[in-house]
Amino acid sequence: MNIADLDTPSVVVDLDVLERNVRHMAERAGETGVRLRPHAKTHKIPEVARLQLAAGARGISLAKTGEAEVFAAAGFDDVFLAYPVVGAEKARRLLALSDRVRLAVGTDGVEGASSLGGVFHPAGRRLDVLLKVDCGYHRVGVSPESAVEVARRIADLPGISVRGVFTHAGHAYLATTREEVDAIARQEGEILAATAQVLRGAGLPVEEVSVGSTPTARGAMAVEGVTECRPGNYVYHDASQVSLGTCGIGDCAMTVLATVVSVPATDRAVLDCGSKTLSSDALRPRPSGHGWILGRKSRIDKLTEEHGVVRVEAGESFRVGEKVRILPNHACVVSNLHDRIVVARGDRVEGEWAVAARGKVR
Ligand SMILES: Cc1ncc(COP(=O)(O)O)c(C=O)c1O
Repeated sequence: MNIADLDTPSVVVDLDVLERNVRHMAERAGETGVRLRPHAKTHKIPEVARLQLAAGARGISLAKTGEAEVFAAAGFDDVFLAYPVVGAEKARRLLALSDRVRLAVGTDGVEGASSLGGVFHPAGRRLDVLLKVDCGYHRVGVSPESAVEVARRIADLPGISVRGVFTHAGHAYLATTREEVDAIARQEGEILAATAQVLRGAGLPVEEVSVGSTPTARGAMAVEGVTECRPGNYVYHDASQVSLGTCGIGDCAMTVLATVVSVPATDRAVLDCGSKTLSSDALRPRPSGHGWILGRKSRIDKLTEEHGVVRVEAGESFRVGEKVRILPNHACVVSNLHDRIVVARGDRVEGEWAVAARGKVR
């Protein structure tokens, strides 16, 4: 079957591009001696994670307990939840998982860690945690200055072992030049490696020093002292990565196939993909439209739930029934909106994969 024969909207992943992206990131990690622990929240698909492990990744990262349950059931036995997991309810699920999975979770405070230790300790078990350090994103994480004090208190908690430190330079997505991205990447690695040294100096064991995002992976992995990297988006890439200069359009594995369902005016065409297909996530670093229509200058400038409204550029036209391919702004969110993706090589459809952990946000 040819891609053009698919019903729409369909999310299509080109396996040749995906495999190349997986291989390139594994090679970069190999060159620096850093362990790759890809963030599988991007794809939520065990088949993709198996390709990442086969290329040399050591374990996977996830964000949510429900995602970990899906991947554990699919046979994955080394998982880091790179997220501040909190509460006895989730701790009980983690305890059950820890029977068959080498597990660690993120934390950035004593209250959260203690809510997990309070379940592990009475069961005679310990849960590994990595302390989240804020390297400038200002989302979650302790400041580098307060890391020793917080790590000490967490290490004293019953039922908890501190395995290391981690960070995520999400602010790289707002950088408007490649130089700025590179500077953030260096800072990400240097701040975390320096924090790890201070912790070790204070007598705290720090085995793992874990950085990672797709735009900063290469720069942060090059920093001495970094042991692990957790890029996620690189398997697919998207319009935001192209805008940031992380990759070219030819490195983007995921596109959305859509049909023109209406041409109500010469300067307006409507596609059968809205926010429930493409997500409402903005293009980064500068918001502009809702995905790129490949081979066209016209942009999707408005989305409602089921409609993608294209402002048709002078000299271009669309006809009802025509199919187009869209490079989404943010591939990770698109994954979570679809039960299945179509896998293809070039224009040839090879099959479908279930997005097994889609919707697992708890
Ligand atoms: C904590 C954490 N680690 C790693 C990643 C992976 O980053 P990216 O999607 O840029 O590859 C993310 C992405 O949101 C994250 O939040």
